[in-house]
Amino acid sequence: MSELVYLNGEYKAAHEACVPVMDRGFMFADGVYEVIPVYAGQAFRLQHHMRRLQSSLDAIDIKNPLSEDAWSNIFDDLFARNCGEGDAFIYLQVTRGVMRRREHNYGPELIPSVLVMCQPHQYATADTNSIVGIKAITLEDNRWADCYIKSINLLPNVMRKQQAISQGATEAILIRDGLAIEGSASNLFIVKDDVVRTPPKSRHMLGGITRDLIVELCHANKVVIGEKEISEDELHDADEIWMTSSTKEIMPVTKLNQHKVGRGVVGPKWKQVQGIFQAYKKTLQ
Ligand code: PDD
Repeated sequence: MSELVYLNGEYKAAHEACVPVMDRGFMFADGVYEVIPVYAGQAFRLQHHMRRLQSSLDAIDIKNPLSEDAWSNIFDDLFARNCGEGDAFIYLQVTRGVMRRREHNYGPELIPSVLVMCQPHQYATADTNSIVGIKAITLEDNRWADCYIKSINLLPNVMRKQQAISQGATEAILIRDGLAIEGSASNLFIVKDDVVRTPPKSRHMLGGITRDLIVELCHANKVVIGEKEISEDELHDADEIWMTSSTKEIMPVTKLNQHKVGRGVVGPKWKQVQGIFQAYKKTLQ
């Protein structure tokens, strides 16, 4: 059976669900989104994702079209219909809605469009021993100044990711004004001399839910961690590099550009924090 999606109040087969060409998401990428992990049927850190959705909507002046309960019911329905059990992720998108004429400005009459999908997903790092680490490359961060908004306008991210793939890497680490900010679809951590470090949140990066959890878990487990800017030089000099996201969890980087990171294998601090993270996931199931 074809996967079902939720689109503006109806459940439809994914290949039949359509938005009008005058939807401002289609025309202007005028909308925001969220990606929420689901472990053994439980949406993970749901409140945090819903809070970030609200702040993205506030930032672009769209009213949240659904109550928290309504969102939750759709997530549960889609998980039950598409997945049944196991791990998955939820994708949701809210756009400003369908306009009558193509014009950049918008009025208050528009009704936001809502799309929700839920797909089974195998979390690569759930099996710690199978992880060998990825290659990343550094690229200039040419995105706009408001990257804290989880905007569906992902063209610069798409281009950077594609450039990484075409160079035999998995992720691009974006450099703005000499500072390593984040990945094209992930946040950044380094380890130097046993100390974990991640850049502080700013307008120039997306405040990742996974990032925040790792910071929280490090503090709770006495892993020394600092939120401090990372220069490009410090990135190249790191003993370990990790990229984090809702779909990638904590992915170690073992090669950066043409060089090994540390000794070129997954590092001891990653193993420690990965263990803490996977154990934390289990406490919620
Ligand atoms: N992306 N930074 C960027 C630019 C991202 O696109 C993402 C996630 C993150 C990590 O955020 P979180 O931990 O909340 O997933 C950081 C999602 C997974 C995506 O676009 O598919």
